Amino acid sequence: MRIYQEADYEAMSLRAARIMAAEVVRKPDCVLGLATGSTPVGAYRQLSQWNQEGHLSFREVRTVNLDEYKGLEPTHDQSYRYFMQVNFFDHLDILRENTHVPNGMAADADAECKRYDELIRSLGYADLQLLGIGHNGHIGFNEPGSAFVAPTHVVDLTERTIEANSRFFASADDVPRQAMTMGIGCIMAARRILMVVSGEDKAQAIYDAFCGPIDPKCPASILQLHPDVVLVGDKAALHKLVEAGVSVCG
Ligand code: PGA
Repeated sequence: MRIYQEADYEAMSLRAARIMAAEVVRKPDCVLGLATGSTPVGAYRQLSQWNQEGHLSFREVRTVNLDEYKGLEPTHDQSYRYFMQVNFFDHLDILRENTHVPNGMAADADAECKRYDELIRSLGYADLQLLGIGHNGHIGFNEPGSAFVAPTHVVDLTERTIEANSRFFASADDVPRQAMTMGIGCIMAARRILMVVSGEDKAQAIYDAFCGPIDPKCPASILQLHPDVVLVGDKAALHKLVEAGVSVCG
């Protein structure tokens, strides 16, 4: 595992964008596993800029997103499809048909989860999977529980996640109660994991994920078993790791 400690959000985003760009340069038709949330937005902005300046092409890149709210139309301004369009895809030369997000409106959600797993398998799994981390240690919408769940599945969001995400909705009541999420299986099948994290409020989750026991109560702790994890964080998010003596670069 390699850990980059950066001064702040901007530097963290630049480092993450460089790692993603390197993957696209190395393999122009790579499969990128992508994440929503506020943390990756800076990296998406940087990659979009490099694309527009002609330094980087996404023409052949394929993408698979981690999750989607159940019951939101792709055009709903809080759906993750919409988020990806506005924050990333609309600014790139990527082909829409090469970008994949679970269909939150599928009549049969379980069938949609199976289809999504099959799709990711047929793409050969992600070359690089970008991840954020929740305050409760979730990755994608794999919430703390009594077991790690391998396949893409429908989840009931925890109160803590609903509360955290309510900042994007008119009120907590408007936050969907369920989502579809890539399971631990597809995440762990990615050849490389890139986790991005920013802010003191994530320091404990990061500490639990990488210094605590491997336990489904902290879903991100499974990443301790992945052979190629890169963690990029700002000082505030990584300080508990550093204080625990974990060595970092940067
Ligand atoms: P955030 O979300 O980037 O908005 O903090 C991360 C997550 O919940 O996975």
